Amino acid sequence: MKDNWFFKLLIVSCSIWSATALNSAWRWECIGGFCQKRRINNSTETGAISLSVCQIFCSNNAALWPKPTGKVSVGNYLLPINANSIDIAGIAATAPSVSILRHAVQRLRQQTEQKGSAKARNKGGRAAFFYFDIADTSIVDPVLRIDESYSLFVSESSSGSLNVTIKAQNAFGARHAIETFGQLVVHDDLRDELVVPRDVEVEDAPVYTYRGLTLDTSRNFISVEAIKRNIDAMAASKLNRFHWHITDTHSFPFYSKSQPQLSKLGAYSPKKVYMPDQIEDIVEYARVRGVKVVPEFDAPAHVGEGWQDSGFVVCLNKQPWELYCVEPPCGQFDPTEDGLYDVLGDIYGDMFELFKPDIFHMGGDEISFSCWRSEEKILNWLNARGWNSSSEEENFTKLWNLFQTKAIAQLDFKAKTTLPIIMWTSELTRKENIQKYLPKDRYVIQVWTEGSDPQIKDLLDANYTLILSNYDALYLDCGFAGWVAGGNNWCSPYIGWQKVYSNSPYNISAGRTDQILGSSAALWTEQVDDSSVDGRFWPRAAALAEILWSEPKTTWREAEPRILIHRERLVRDTGVNAEALEPEWCLQNENNCPQN
Ligand SMILES: *[C@@H]1O[C@H](CO)[C@@H](O)[C@H](O)[C@H]1NC(C)=O
Ligand SMILES: *[C@@H]1O[C@H](CO)[C@@H](O)[C@H](O)[C@H]1NC(C)=O
Ligand SMILES: *[C@@H]1O[C@H](CO)[C@@H](O)[C@H](O)[C@H]1NC(C)=O
Ligand SMILES: *[C@@H]1O[C@H](CO)[C@@H](O)[C@H](O)[C@H]1NC(C)=O
Ligand SMILES: *[C@@H]1O[C@H](CO)[C@@H](O)[C@H](O)[C@H]1NC(C)=O
Ligand SMILES: *[C@@H]1O[C@H](CO)[C@@H](O)[C@H](O)[C@H]1NC(C)=O
Ligand SMILES: *[C@@H]1O[C@H](CO)[C@@H](O)[C@H](O)[C@H]1NC(C)=O
Repeated sequence: MKDNWFFKLLIVSCSIWSATALNSAWRWECIGGFCQKRRINNSTETGAISLSVCQIFCSNNAALWPKPTGKVSVGNYLLPINANSIDIAGIAATAPSVSILRHAVQRLRQQTEQKGSAKARNKGGRAAFFYFDIADTSIVDPVLRIDESYSLFVSESSSGSLNVTIKAQNAFGARHAIETFGQLVVHDDLRDELVVPRDVEVEDAPVYTYRGLTLDTSRNFISVEAIKRNIDAMAASKLNRFHWHITDTHSFPFYSKSQPQLSKLGAYSPKKVYMPDQIEDIVEYARVRGVKVVPEFDAPAHVGEGWQDSGFVVCLNKQPWELYCVEPPCGQFDPTEDGLYDVLGDIYGDMFELFKPDIFHMGGDEISFSCWRSEEKILNWLNARGWNSSSEEENFTKLWNLFQTKAIAQLDFKAKTTLPIIMWTSELTRKENIQKYLPKDRYVIQVWTEGSDPQIKDLLDANYTLILSNYDALYLDCGFAGWVAGGNNWCSPYIGWQKVYSNSPYNISAGRTDQILGSSAALWTEQVDDSSVDGRFWPRAAALAEILWSEPKTTWREAEPRILIHRERLVRDTGVNAEALEPEWCLQNENNCPQN
């Protein structure tokens, strides 16, 4: 597939190009699979090619991101497209998932309009009609393991319009095809025209089913608007899971209908609360973009603000914090408090109602035994039950297990079904504990330790299913100033997109990819809020998107020209403030910047 692209001869023909003066002093030539910038000698050169057109015909995989896993074939003929005339032709209006397709085509129309100038939009061009062939039109939620494959065909119909034919197993595969088509619609800025290649065939399917971003909204609040912007960028990159670490010790921004005092006491301000209608809005916004929200209620550690009056939290802001938790302020549930579990049940119930999750995250990381040890009340309780076995660790592991057992009983009661549960790696997921405490048919383990952690092999050997968020490649908050000390923060240095791109699940699992559900790149927001959230995620999250969609056997070097192109798309089409990776000169002179 790639080799064809490398040696492809660039003969682009276009029905609209005429000998009118061009807007630019530059045109592009395809040399060895890379677009190169050249001066225009004659302002009416008819064959002069713009950068955006060159990228489609010359860059590998038609400059698509993430790169398709099957056939990519693009002819060498361009047609002008009319942004005001992009419509659906072939699908029954009554099909349950038709609204997903309508939404995606509407989004395409808006993005196409934004690409060109007003003049380009009003120049006319061909109408485009979408014909859908969807095997199962009843799927209306992008749940785990649905088949997201698609094929896309673009041709010119006998009436001269563009025929965009999409085949997929369900609307979410078809939605991906519309994203792919959108990447092929470009603005030719030499002639100020919106154009699209005429003869296209793409066959595509993702390698992993769980392709996510993890966002913390407790350390700092992130607005609904910023969350939506990032979901848009996810959709444009074919990511499909928004893992929402909504609460933590620092603040409790989740409005629980049954326990409203939690956000009243625990939010940073009355404005920094996610109200039920806002959460439903985000869940729906994500759904029509093929993204499923995974709510997390992290416990028994990572709780504090909001619980002041409950009597269920110990070590709240206990100092010196280093002794009782990993970062200030400390806070942890006291599992011996019986009243705690009804309140947890209320929170789970409220979350299920709003998120309608297909998998739920119970957190479970960084439990501090020294916090529990510092509480006389807890020690007495343990002693009273004779839970003072020969090892202290065993005492507390039992206590932790008691918490997890009682919490999940509440969860199951509220869910009225047995949802799969995600838990972070912890003491409980270690080889000697996990099979005793967390049955593999129920729990998916999200790995946050290093990619080389031997625990990964242990978990795979014990037949657990994993999600990878190994901090050495997927913690996007690493590499900034320290905030509990001088110097840099704990997981420095900064993780470049190349490192994200090299974090292959295939390599990490030693080829046991059937046990890897996928990965999620995490953004912990101690040092991030609305003003920088976009740039921390993007374009590095796009590097993750391609690794998970395509599991490429090639290196970041092959992807470099395309990620520069995709970064431009993200900024222009989704409004996300993705960071620049290189000087624009490198975008305009492909393959001239990275060393060989
Ligand atoms: C443009 O001019 C340069 C220098 O005179 C020449 O080398 C090049 O071949 C010309 N290009 C075309 C497309 O005529
Ligand atoms: C510029 O190109 C046009 C179209 O190819 C040609 O008709 C014209 O003679 C050229 N002019 C010069 C000065 O080379
Ligand atoms: C559109 O293209 C598809 C696939 O190439 C073809 O089967 C179909 O007949 C075409 N439909 C029209 C209306 O041109
Ligand atoms: C364990 O608990 C029993 C019953 O309360 C008590 O008699 C014993 O001293 C405790 N042992 C330790 C090591 O704390
Ligand atoms: C746990 O076990 C150790 C070792 O027997 C004992 O010293 C300790 O008192 C126990 N802790 C609690 C909280 O009972
Ligand atoms: C894991 O699954 C394999 C294949 O089904 C099986 O042979 C093996 O015994 C299982 N291992 C454990 C620890 O359950
Ligand atoms: C996977 O491992 C192989 C062998 O160690 C290495 O050559 C390759 O670069 C790795 N792939 C990625 C994406 O890191």
